[in-house]
Amino acid sequence: MTVQPRLIKQLCWTEKDLPQKVRTKHVHSLHPYLGKFVPQLVDYFLKRGLKNSKLVCDPFMGSGTTLIECNVNGIPSIGFDISKFNVMLCDVKTKKYDVAELRREVEAVLEEARAAVMPSLDGFIAKKRRAIKNPDSPYLNTWYHPDALRSLLAFQSLIPGHSYQDVLKIILSRAARSSRMIAHYEVDFPKKPYGEDYYCIKHDRTCHPTKNSMTFLQRYCKDVVNRIAEFQRIRTDVRTRPVHGDSSKFDFAGLEINHVFTSPPYIGLIDYHDQHKYAYELLGLDDNSDLEIGRKKNGSSKSAIHNYKKDISRTIRNISEAAFSKDSRFIIVVNDKLGLYEDIVADGGLVIKKRLTREVNRRSGRRATSFSEDILVCGL
Ligand SMILES: C[S@@+](CC[C@H](N)C(=O)[O-])C[C@H]1O[C@@H](n2cnc3c(N)ncnc32)[C@H](O)[C@@H]1O
Repeated sequence: MTVQPRLIKQLCWTEKDLPQKVRTKHVHSLHPYLGKFVPQLVDYFLKRGLKNSKLVCDPFMGSGTTLIECNVNGIPSIGFDISKFNVMLCDVKTKKYDVAELRREVEAVLEEARAAVMPSLDGFIAKKRRAIKNPDSPYLNTWYHPDALRSLLAFQSLIPGHSYQDVLKIILSRAARSSRMIAHYEVDFPKKPYGEDYYCIKHDRTCHPTKNSMTFLQRYCKDVVNRIAEFQRIRTDVRTRPVHGDSSKFDFAGLEINHVFTSPPYIGLIDYHDQHKYAYELLGLDDNSDLEIGRKKNGSSKSAIHNYKKDISRTIRNISEAAFSKDSRFIIVVNDKLGLYEDIVADGGLVIKKRLTREVNRRSGRRATSFSEDILVCGL
């Protein structure tokens, strides 16, 4: 029987109720990530039905919103993602730090990188003209100005041997994202590199492609450390475990998960590895994009939908059969435009107990959108 949706007014935040600054507080915006849910949504449910959880799982952890909010609420959590970069990002966000030591290390690496790219007077002209090429990566050579790439590679070369290498990698990735030669109106889905000035429809004027990455490195060294320091003040010591793995095949037996809070990948909308391509290229991370469920590259044809349903329901079944009791809840946040989730949940061996819905009004200006999002509360 179809469960009718119930609008939850408390969850329909407007921009005024929940400004961007609050949605992106502390480590939540350590690095841009396309397709995350708002932390306040997770917090709402954690503070209600999931308050006394022994272990909350997010099988599609993404940038780690569920794990971060669980940690702040003192709830142990475990998360899985097929993208190595996402797992590293979540690990960096949720770790415990000696902040003074971290700040010292990051500032020292930045200083050294600056010195390394500062041309000596003698070699100034020659160095300026010589393009820096990373022979291993056509991507890096195409999407970056040689000066920008030189600073990124200088910073990258200094990472080994430091205590907080993954933080340095996140800073490097964020600077790399900002210094791609892309049009300002294509930040999320860049179509091609822009080597020359271009007419920018976002700013209604001629804009110049970025040639510089050092400014971004400087800015993000400061911002990332400040955000981590802010999180350390509210961080708890409960177990918070990001894991790299394919949730549709993982054996969850023995984990004692009693609740799940997740937003599965959308079908045919985002390539989750590809959105951080610069990080994969610069850091040499393993690419598992073939195992991504619902990836954009596979489209939303009949067979893509069939595979998507099979993989998501297999994940639900894997967890519920291995760990669920009658009180366990599998909460799925989804924009189910294609009406797939009734079947998916049933094939996963669960029933939809409640279908809550909320209206999402996103920002103002060019990216203003309004749509509704369902929160499926499922159980045995
Ligand atoms: C909608 S996003 C989750 C966003 C997350 N709620 C957040 O706030 O950041 C879905 C995630 O599922 C991951 N994913 C896709 N296929 C997967 C698989 N087979 N196993 C584990 N994770 C997978 C993607 O890499 C992506 O990060």
